[in-house]
Amino acid sequence: MILQTHTHVLHDHDLTLRPMTEADWDILLAWNNDPEVLYYAEGDDITSRSLDDMQAIYRFVSQSGFCFVMEAIGQPVGECWLQQMNLERIQQKYPHADCRRIDLMIGEKGLWGQGYGTRTIRLLVRFAFEQERADYVFGCDIADYNLRSQKAFQKVGFSLDTTILQSAGGKAQACFDYVLSRADFSS
Ligand SMILES: CC(C)(COP(=O)(O)OP(=O)(O)OC[C@H]1O[C@@H](n2cnc3c(N)ncnc32)[C@H](O)[C@@H]1OP(=O)(O)O)[C@@H](O)C(=O)NCCC(=O)NCCS
Repeated sequence: MILQTHTHVLHDHDLTLRPMTEADWDILLAWNNDPEVLYYAEGDDITSRSLDDMQAIYRFVSQSGFCFVMEAIGQPVGECWLQQMNLERIQQKYPHADCRRIDLMIGEKGLWGQGYGTRTIRLLVRFAFEQERADYVFGCDIADYNLRSQKAFQKVGFSLDTTILQSAGGKAQACFDYVLSRADFSS
């Protein structure tokens, strides 16, 4: 399986989301081996990832979604995707609806907290609702300690959908699914 690419390019001033390709492994691998990035990006205790494991993830997601590299200040700064919903708890709660999920990671930590995450989510949401005609977009499994992520989704208009309590001893005590409907986005 190779990365399924696409031709969508999304722009917001100095921020561009362009298709991820098989030429991006080096920079993706650096971000996927930064323990601080992974602390926020992942639910489990993973602190590094092999090239094979990482390629398997992006290649798999790309079969049912659109993977992008975020570019700002003239260089790649992170990755994100809009993917078909893959969580049973959400599929069961929203039967017959076209549900998608957004995941994102700014790998360049110096750029955290400067609005790029919020703007990336906004671009993906617009793409999801206006071009893909999705019914709902979710931010899934956001850890209770990841206030930056929660706030970025909230600023785009997402609201809390479900709280998922975590088993004791993990990094988070609870994780949150955030949701935005096309109706709320349009109004
Ligand atoms: C989560 C992430 C995408 C957010 O993007 P970002 O560009 O850093 O966030 P933004 O600047 O758009 O918005 C963050 C908001 O959180 C606020 N914030 C930042 N740190 C905070 C903290 N410790 N406590 C509370 N709020 C905080 C900021 O002030 C900002 O809100 P404001 O604009 O109202 O002031 C980015 O930080 C990231 O990639 N982190 C690592 C990986 C990750 O967590 N991915 C998401 C997994 S669910």
